[in-house]
Amino acid sequence: MKTRHIAAAIGAAFALAAHAQDARIDRKVADLMKQMTVAEKVGQLHQLSGRQFTGPTSSAYADKLADIRAGKVGSMLNVTGVADTREIQALALQSRLKIPLLFSLDVIHGYKTVFPVPLGEAASWDMEAIELSAHIAAREAAAAGIHWTFAPMVDVARDPRWGRVMEGAGEDTYLGSQIAAARVHGFQGRKLGATDSVMATAKHFAAYGAAIAGRDYNAVDMSEQQLHEVYLPPFKAATDAGAATFMNSFNTLNGIPATGNAMLQRDILKGAWKYKGFVVSDWGSVREMVPHGYAADLSDAAVKAINAGSDMDMEGYAYTQHLEAAVKAGKVKMATLDDAVRRILYKKFELGLFDDPYRYSDAAREKAVLSDQSHRTAALDVAQKSIVLLKNENKLLPLPREAKRIAVIGPLADSQRDLEGGWVVQGERAKVVSIVEGIRSHAGKAEISYAQACAPGCASSEGFADAVATASKADVIVLAVGETWDMSGEAKSRTDITLPGQQEALFSALKATGKPVVVVMLAGRPLVFNTIADKADAIVYAWFPGSEGGNAVANVLFGDYNPSGKLPITFPRSVGQIPLSYAQYNTGRPVTDEKNVVYKSAYIDSVNTPRYAFGHGLSYTDFKYGGLTLSSPKLAGTQKATLSFDLSNSGKVEGTEIVQLYLRDMVSSVVRPVKELKGFQKVHLKPGETRRVSFTIDRDTLSFFNSQLKWGAEAGDFHLMVGSASDDIRLSAQLEYLR
Ligand code: GLC
Repeated sequence: MKTRHIAAAIGAAFALAAHAQDARIDRKVADLMKQMTVAEKVGQLHQLSGRQFTGPTSSAYADKLADIRAGKVGSMLNVTGVADTREIQALALQSRLKIPLLFSLDVIHGYKTVFPVPLGEAASWDMEAIELSAHIAAREAAAAGIHWTFAPMVDVARDPRWGRVMEGAGEDTYLGSQIAAARVHGFQGRKLGATDSVMATAKHFAAYGAAIAGRDYNAVDMSEQQLHEVYLPPFKAATDAGAATFMNSFNTLNGIPATGNAMLQRDILKGAWKYKGFVVSDWGSVREMVPHGYAADLSDAAVKAINAGSDMDMEGYAYTQHLEAAVKAGKVKMATLDDAVRRILYKKFELGLFDDPYRYSDAAREKAVLSDQSHRTAALDVAQKSIVLLKNENKLLPLPREAKRIAVIGPLADSQRDLEGGWVVQGERAKVVSIVEGIRSHAGKAEISYAQACAPGCASSEGFADAVATASKADVIVLAVGETWDMSGEAKSRTDITLPGQQEALFSALKATGKPVVVVMLAGRPLVFNTIADKADAIVYAWFPGSEGGNAVANVLFGDYNPSGKLPITFPRSVGQIPLSYAQYNTGRPVTDEKNVVYKSAYIDSVNTPRYAFGHGLSYTDFKYGGLTLSSPKLAGTQKATLSFDLSNSGKVEGTEIVQLYLRDMVSSVVRPVKELKGFQKVHLKPGETRRVSFTIDRDTLSFFNSQLKWGAEAGDFHLMVGSASDDIRLSAQLEYLR
């Protein structure tokens, strides 16, 4: 039997086994639901946050603990650890039908071992590294009694004023879709139910990242064509990757709150995409339909939410208080209630919780997994791959070994908390490696001096003189500046995304010493720092790099790791340019010459180009692109073409290049962006090595959603581009699609 026949047979066997499991669980769910009262069904849809439900504060929650015992709660969030999850699960098992609880938590970029914030990880463009990061986070969380994480956040975001840009994969639909799938696979493993994996959540459904003015929780208004073209694909990728759950978003979409939006949840997710998982609301988002002005009261909100496809009510108290009456009054069909309950019970069976409600709460495994030092090694690897070298004048970096005296300066140089970033749940802060600690441990014989200059946020310049004095005695200055960890994330929108406080003034004072200055920037979003961008000798963007951040930064600064990261989001020159994406439209008056912008789509006080472009990132070596071929300049129907080229490492050290494939559809029924990312590959080359790199171009590569929301390719000319960044195209070719 040929190999491919064997593979097909194995695939078929797996599919058969999965189908058999589905049928077995369906029967168990049906049998259980036959026994359930309406009140017990509603109980499954109620999710509570239980941060203080155990220990000395538990007495304040006696009523809620009683609800759990009475089977009125289906899931808890924010209860974590084997001891606490066992204690609370035991209460649920006192209920009449002994239906176990689901325990969920925001394990966004690590549980105990903290990995770079998601936007930082996205800068690695490394799907294996991103999947590994999610897997380790899941392994640690599952060992601590957690069944379900509220991640990955897959919101495309093109407005860095929005603080939650930190939690996602940046501005691009294609890159964001690849990362969504990698994170779902990382969290869930290849099959749900293993105790080193957790259920994932694709959130926030949908278009939350397009909040007007970048102000969190604000309304979202866009054409359905934009919704389908830019914002939905990462959610579809998460669905195809098997995401167990979805979370809807706080925002209205074209006037209707996502939580009550049947077009999103019923027509698209559960209809067109045939989604079998369940949807949890965001925190109180069912209840918030009242202030939105979409629901008259909590009862109306409950009816509108469940009828629109929101299966579980997180901390809204709408379902628990009003759903039973709504069903009895005929405002909610029993079939609607049953569908929500069925989806949730299915997952509880799939996780094996009915067989053993404590199977994720094993104290010995918790101890062993949470002390696994290999997780730190992985965190270092992912952090190094996430760092982006923005500038390196005269190849100042890597730091010359003969740099005898290095002054490490700045408000974030010795910080441990800031390196973790936001959404940290159980991180071991005391074991976070700070930047100055990392440099000290990597510097060999060099003499390391340190001055904080100002506190994080740098409100005062009082310490500048001392810092300048320290810096004046050094051969090279490393300045660690940026946002503090709490300046990005939920409810952290900023109208001004420049460096907080006096940090650019500090840079100028240090630069005035005449010593070379390397700037290490920490942030959860693109920042504006034009003085530093113009005058620093080198700039390294480290995002919030996590537990091993100081070691990752030091490895890059000393050249033990050759930086390979590329920006997953555009860095504007000013907040006035926002929203600014590489995937912009040409307009009828494109700027072709920055010196002649009269009556062009431009500003009178700024150029249109960004400070740093999507896909930008330097290396300590040089890469040459050449020898491009296209197997066929014309395509029809389902034919495929292969675009190939030679990539060479023409420098002196080995390095990794992320080659990017862009495309422009020159004429179409809906105008297309001047560039769209359609592929990328990470290629590692030794000095002098050349590799032939290939991309396949087919009808799907050329397709888009037209004005009738139909996905497809239109006949015409396409401009194919290959480059090192969206503004650094090295090779191009023309392709004609004949349809
Ligand atoms: C928050 C966030 C959401 C998070 C949830 C639970 O408000 O919007 O991303 O998962 O509540 O903490």
